[in-house]
Amino acid sequence: MANEQDLMERIVALAKRRGFIYPSSEIYGGINGFWDYGPLGVELKRNLKDAWWQDIVRCPPAGPDGLPLQMVGLDCSIIMNPKVWEASGHLSGFSDPMVTCKECKKHQRADQIMEQLAKSDWVQEVIQFCVVQPDGRAIIHGKELLGWARKRGKKIAPGLALVRNPEVTISWMIEKAAHDGPAFTAQEFVKHVATEQFAQTGLVTPCPYCGGPLTEPRQFNLMFKTFVGAMEDSSALAYLRPETAQGIFANYKNVLDTTRIKVPFGIAQIGKAFRNEINPRNFTFRSREFEQMEIEFFCHPSQADPWYAWWRDARYKWYVDHGLKSSKLRLRDHQKEELAHYARACADVEYEFPFGISELEGIANRTDFDLAQHQKFSGRDMTYFDDETKERFIPYVIEPSGGIDRAALAFLCEAYAEDEAPDENGAMQRRTVLRFHPRLAPVKAAIFPLVKKDGMPEKALEIYTALRPHMTAFYDEKGAVGRRYRRQDEAGTPFCITVDGQTREDGTVTIRDRDSMKQERIASDAPTLLGCLQDRLRR
Ligand code: GAP
Repeated sequence: MANEQDLMERIVALAKRRGFIYPSSEIYGGINGFWDYGPLGVELKRNLKDAWWQDIVRCPPAGPDGLPLQMVGLDCSIIMNPKVWEASGHLSGFSDPMVTCKECKKHQRADQIMEQLAKSDWVQEVIQFCVVQPDGRAIIHGKELLGWARKRGKKIAPGLALVRNPEVTISWMIEKAAHDGPAFTAQEFVKHVATEQFAQTGLVTPCPYCGGPLTEPRQFNLMFKTFVGAMEDSSALAYLRPETAQGIFANYKNVLDTTRIKVPFGIAQIGKAFRNEINPRNFTFRSREFEQMEIEFFCHPSQADPWYAWWRDARYKWYVDHGLKSSKLRLRDHQKEELAHYARACADVEYEFPFGISELEGIANRTDFDLAQHQKFSGRDMTYFDDETKERFIPYVIEPSGGIDRAALAFLCEAYAEDEAPDENGAMQRRTVLRFHPRLAPVKAAIFPLVKKDGMPEKALEIYTALRPHMTAFYDEKGAVGRRYRRQDEAGTPFCITVDGQTREDGTVTIRDRDSMKQERIASDAPTLLGCLQDRLRR
């Protein structure tokens, strides 16, 4: 756990240091749940979006019948008529239960409190004063716990009953342990460190941050509100979309009427979504502003089950094909009780981040729920007429819905590695390397002159200029070449090309592979070099 936390901290530090991800408006202290992508991050994200768009919209895979899927794209507005959110159910149902700490005033998701408590600093420390015997009975080291409460506890958990009123709480806990016997386990112990507080307030869990008492849970709608036009009253109220999907449903008829597309077909969209998350956390994983890549695939109701199975497997494979090859990726089918009331089936593509296993993308069979709702609320006909079978029906929808930021974070975590590389004197040095799939790597090739003389910079610049129209390239002539290689390893650049003394003699340059660190000599004329790089980038 500590190692994984440490690993996440190193990934976050690298992301900042190398210009992948910065906290938003950092010069003013940042703003929780919002992130900016730096020069390398924006390339990573763009590559991810381009790869998805290319594989889903422009060159979609073949379906079960061997023919390419019919797919088109959309780019809808972020603010839509508020009726959309009434029809979709977001106005009444898109909420999380929230509790607020009465001491530190932090708002937290009520359903995540126990998980947060397990990770909380003060719980980790306090638990050490409770030794659980083989029979399950807990022995409390009251004296040491009192010492902790009077010093360290005041700093890290000032709201905790144990800290505010240590003598009474500790004697209560010791009595409770003696009385409850084996039932008083370590978990019970954690629950009881605020027992005196519970006794007074009737609350059952302390704040994971400061130990203070929490309010009762209340429902909190996650949609950001805004006003359209000059008036700031309820008639002007609008919402920032919490998902891109509804723009697709609202345009489904437009697409049918303006193209020659026929069911089964899919509409894809990449775009920003906004959710006023109670607890943004785990770096970019749970943000308040993020990008989604969503597909709504419309099919005949009788074909929904096979199409669901097809998309479920296709989307999992897409992540594997782009580098999430390790045992850290899994496809988890939802249990019946987990399904939304309108969904017939759902599966999540999940990745084991250093902070735990979490969802990257959900694939759901949403039935005809959304189109039927929009038909009801808008009064517009959402049925589809099949010319061949003469059947009229509301299509069922299979929805693979993923997050760009979550995917970028997963690819960053997967790519992160530490090993050793020789420096300019041949001595092995620790190196950090991002082993991105070449398609996703922010920079594809870095070009260096070995030294800044003998015509080497000129030749290196010539190569750089020739490669730039075809791929993201980077030129660097500063510092020892070993250090330049390591900087590119840290940025995830798959290939470094170096112009050296031999280039002048035989026209060859070295090409160094990021992962194997092996160098080969190849001809430096533009067509050969470009062909060689493109070939390697496709592998
Ligand atoms: N249209 C269905 C839908 O929006 P969702 O599971 O709520 O489903 C889909 O969101 C994807 O959007 C998630 O799998 C995740 O990748 C991404 N996502 C959702 N909330 C997010 C957040 N707060 N921060 C970053 N990504 C998020």
